[in-house]
Amino acid sequence: MSEDQGNNPVFAGDNPMETVRRWLKEAESSEPNDPNAIALATVDATGMPNVRMVLLKDVEDDGFVFFTNYESVKAGEIYGAGKAAFVLHWKSLRRQIRVRGTVEKEEGPSADAYFRSRSLKSRLGAWASKQSRPLSSRGQLVADVARVTASKGLNPDRPPFWGGYRIVPQEMEFWADGAHRLHDRFRWTRNDAGGWSVTRLYP
Ligand SMILES: Cc1cc2nc3c(=O)[nH]c(=O)nc-3n(C[C@H](O)[C@H](O)[C@H](O)COP(=O)(O)O)c2cc1C
Repeated sequence: MSEDQGNNPVFAGDNPMETVRRWLKEAESSEPNDPNAIALATVDATGMPNVRMVLLKDVEDDGFVFFTNYESVKAGEIYGAGKAAFVLHWKSLRRQIRVRGTVEKEEGPSADAYFRSRSLKSRLGAWASKQSRPLSSRGQLVADVARVTASKGLNPDRPPFWGGYRIVPQEMEFWADGAHRLHDRFRWTRNDAGGWSVTRLYP
């Protein structure tokens, strides 16, 4: 931690992933729901940005993992660009974290384990949903769920078209509200040694 960061103890520490975990833990006590909801930004082949909420399910030592449908719009955009960004914002804490990075699939044992941890209805819902494609009616969705319930039984495997993505951060920024809009911002960027360099930014 630099002396400057020490002026505001919420920024303390040498490892930005630890700071994310610490802020998330605080948000768990102060947010009404979904403290782990992130606005995930991708870009399509024409450069048009896109953004939607997803749930951040794991903060690893060097990656952020969320789960989705591999045939969704976001999946196509991730495949095309290989990069994504997200923001976490907690109104209760008046803090924000921004992350930009490269993206890789997480479709191994940890995706299987997370799928198994979900309720049966959620697992069957993942099988039934052709996420992001046109749906003729709510009735069609109910019929699709009934069909997979009959065919997949009570212990469905993880669908091959559903799993995780890991965003490996290249740049992260921590923002905390300050008096008179003189907010604190610290940007962490990867340095040549594979570690992190931190810079204070004007608000
Ligand atoms: C709070 C919240 C959490 C969500 N979490 C997820 C999630 O973890 N995974 C997911 O695929 N969609 C999630 N969604 C739905 C997405 O926002 C989006 O509608 C869906 O993934 C399709 O996005 P796409 O068409 O850009 O691929 C969530 C929506 C909200 C509002």
